[in-house]
Amino acid sequence: MADIGLIGLGTMGSALALNMAEKGSDVAVWNRSSDRTQAFMAEAGDLAPRLSAPEDLEAFVKAIRTPRAIVIMVKAGGPVRSVIDSLKPLLDEGDILIDAGNADFNDTRATEAALAKDGLNFMGIGVSGGEEGARHGPSIMAGGSKAAWARLSPILRAIAADYEGQPCAAHVGPDGAGHFVKTVHNGIEYADMQMIAEVYGLLRHMNGMAPAAIGAQFEAWNEGPLASYLVEITGKVLQALDPETGVPMVDVIVDSAGQKGTGRWTVIEALKLGQSANVIEAAVGARAWSAARDVRGLGAALLGDGIEGQAVKVNDLAEALLSARILAYAQGFSVIGAASEEFEWNVDRAEVAEIWRAGCIIRSALLDDIATSTRAGLPGDALYLADGLRMPLMAGVPALRRVVALAVTAGVPVPALSGALAYLDTMRQPRGFADLIQAQRDFFGAHGFERVDAEGQHHGPWGD
Ligand code: 6PG
Repeated sequence: MADIGLIGLGTMGSALALNMAEKGSDVAVWNRSSDRTQAFMAEAGDLAPRLSAPEDLEAFVKAIRTPRAIVIMVKAGGPVRSVIDSLKPLLDEGDILIDAGNADFNDTRATEAALAKDGLNFMGIGVSGGEEGARHGPSIMAGGSKAAWARLSPILRAIAADYEGQPCAAHVGPDGAGHFVKTVHNGIEYADMQMIAEVYGLLRHMNGMAPAAIGAQFEAWNEGPLASYLVEITGKVLQALDPETGVPMVDVIVDSAGQKGTGRWTVIEALKLGQSANVIEAAVGARAWSAARDVRGLGAALLGDGIEGQAVKVNDLAEALLSARILAYAQGFSVIGAASEEFEWNVDRAEVAEIWRAGCIIRSALLDDIATSTRAGLPGDALYLADGLRMPLMAGVPALRRVVALAVTAGVPVPALSGALAYLDTMRQPRGFADLIQAQRDFFGAHGFERVDAEGQHHGPWGD
């Protein structure tokens, strides 16, 4: 009997199935088009004995040991729902369906609740690391019930990335917690990518450096406190040449960034929870602006596209990026904390940091410090206030100020770096400017305000 079933042999599904087989699980696979299944089996090589491809869905279900565990790796939304509908009549009570794609956690919660009525378990699992990670060791953020996790954990921990002997897979909380944590992971991913792109833009446009030289700089940074997968690949990307024209690869790529939704979901959910992840929002927004190419062209013609200013210090950029990165992670962690409280998930954010240390796209040297600091407790629930992070944060803040000031003066947009700085400066203000907002609200809407020297709600002397 197979230990687990997997439906959907696209890039990620195939990679996961091969990874599970390689780590000792017997896997039954099913794909809507049988041609793809046959091709997959033919490519499986040495792993073929651990894989089976039953002829129809019924035989596929019967081939899996009970309680059955079936990973669904098809497109989020409608396709996942339709696979669940066709599986339902074939399943027994206690069986477990697993959605390992990037799903909206609200859908995950709804599906979990609906399937629970039929006695079925539904697990939403975040899997990070792209195709390479799925094949050789992703970071896995599981939601769903503890019982379902108990059935799946040996398989998932075996295929996960390894950080100094610890598997990067954990049950982060019930129902939609896994997909939520993955969504925020992607939000942080967006922020980090945007800040890296801003640093690239500054070196390119203010220091006049060529892509390859900037790439070499990122390569060097990857040996220090900025060490991370995203800095590493940036170094490689910027040094690559287009085989067709011989010019830097980055120069032949249209500057309009795609997005599938997870970054946007992070921002939406943050706002719903009364949070503001402004660095992540800046990154999501910058992708949207990047897509408006025609308007940007018109803007350049009508408003001018000149950039004038002095070069930035290369070392300032490294320090600024590290500080801003700490603030972006802090915003992500605070969103996870707020959701955990709202949905009573009890997410252990130190564990989240631990399973992000390897396998996932945002893996970085910083995550080990984040894990240690979070484990020790966060003052004010704020990551950037933790002992191990406050010092590197503040060490880079003067550089962050210089970088943002130079960029703003020269006319180079740095929405994420400047957003991080605005967040920091707001969060170290004992008394901000919201007193005036309250007064304005009361003036035009009689909304009332609290006084610093008396209890209750009050109104100002605004007359009629
Ligand atoms: C990961 C990635 C992965 C994928 C994102 C990219 O953790 O492995 O985040 O999930 O690359 O979906 O998202 P966008 O297409 O929205 O940039």
